[in-house]
Amino acid sequence: MNGKRALLIIGGGIAAYKACELVRLLKKEGASVRCVLTAAGHRFVTPMTLAALSEDKVYTDLFDLKDEAEMGHIQLSRQADLVVVAPATADLMAKMAQGIADDLATTLLLATDKPVLAVPAMNVRMWLHAATRRNVATLRHDGVTVLEPDEGPMACGEFGPGRLPEPEAILEAIRRALMQPANPLAGQPDFAEDATQRLENRHIIVTAGPTHEPIDPVRVIANRSSGKQGFAIAGALAAAGARVTLVAGPVSLVTPAGVTRIDVETAREMAAAVDAALPADVAILVAAVADWRVDAAPAKLKKEKGPPELNWHKNPDILAGLGQSPQRPRLLIGFAAETEKAIEHATSKRERKGCDWIVANDVSVDKMGGEENRVHLITDKGTESWERMTKHEIARKLTGKIADALA
Ligand code: C5P
Repeated sequence: MNGKRALLIIGGGIAAYKACELVRLLKKEGASVRCVLTAAGHRFVTPMTLAALSEDKVYTDLFDLKDEAEMGHIQLSRQADLVVVAPATADLMAKMAQGIADDLATTLLLATDKPVLAVPAMNVRMWLHAATRRNVATLRHDGVTVLEPDEGPMACGEFGPGRLPEPEAILEAIRRALMQPANPLAGQPDFAEDATQRLENRHIIVTAGPTHEPIDPVRVIANRSSGKQGFAIAGALAAAGARVTLVAGPVSLVTPAGVTRIDVETAREMAAAVDAALPADVAILVAAVADWRVDAAPAKLKKEKGPPELNWHKNPDILAGLGQSPQRPRLLIGFAAETEKAIEHATSKRERKGCDWIVANDVSVDKMGGEENRVHLITDKGTESWERMTKHEIARKLTGKIADALA
């Protein structure tokens, strides 16, 4: 990490003491560290400790006029290669997710143009609270890397996820973050550097998530799709200027900025919503649609009556339907999650369904619902196998390919 510069924002929590060790490890690796202490962080570690370890001035107050004159907070936020928030408290992450800038740390975080790594530490209930879940999802969607906290006994006496990861683990995450190109699109030979507004005036339909097919009022047939990849794609397309209609099965994900979302439950509802959203320039069908539905019982089936007789019916194939439709989008993209012979099966699926591209992934290797994927893009020109990357990176790369294809 020789010569790399980290800006370390230390929030208020008992785990703040581990930030001191992190500064020491970063310095040992040859990186320079500049520390910013929040008012709450100040109660747990002193600026003097951090100044001694970082061999640099420690910044604590937004309204330090001398610093503002010497170096504005905007510059401070941009002189680093990476901004690290450790410990990232529930409060600090809530402010980050909302774009609140009411002290030096949060102002720097809003003003920065550098990658941000947040390392959470908080009480287990706070970590699991719906508000924190929402904030973490928003931050991840916004491109912040939020590490998972460690699990174990906590200073407050409870047990569970919420502990700050050990400094060595944070160091490893910093190393990974610093190794990624600052611009995730850089270095892609057939990818224009600036995708911004390249899809302006295009309408794109994306389906995402699973479908739920009712068995009775309380039971459904479902699958393991998390919806993360489809949501990431919808967000990346909107960021590139497209008008995006996202038809989402039952998932609890935050709607990406600038996307029009239509929530559905069943395959038939999804097919109808896609139909109603036409015409479109592109359709990307990422949803894992249930292939079968059953005649749903009007009242709860009683288990005492034994296993129910279910009447199975085939669901509409939305992708194949669009492939045949007079309103077929110019570019039709399907997904294929396979557990064996991914490329082979996906290649024949492309022909069978009448779509232009298939994005295939091997779900026997990749656990569904994770943050990363390894995919193959199958087109009429052959197969491209992409490196393993995050679902957001895949979304951005696919967005670039789509913009190129429509150009
Ligand atoms: O046939 P299979 O389900 O493997 O095909 C996957 C692709 O077809 C995905 O793009 C999925 O969204 C789409 N699909 C669909 N309607 C279905 C089944 C799959 O649109 N009923």
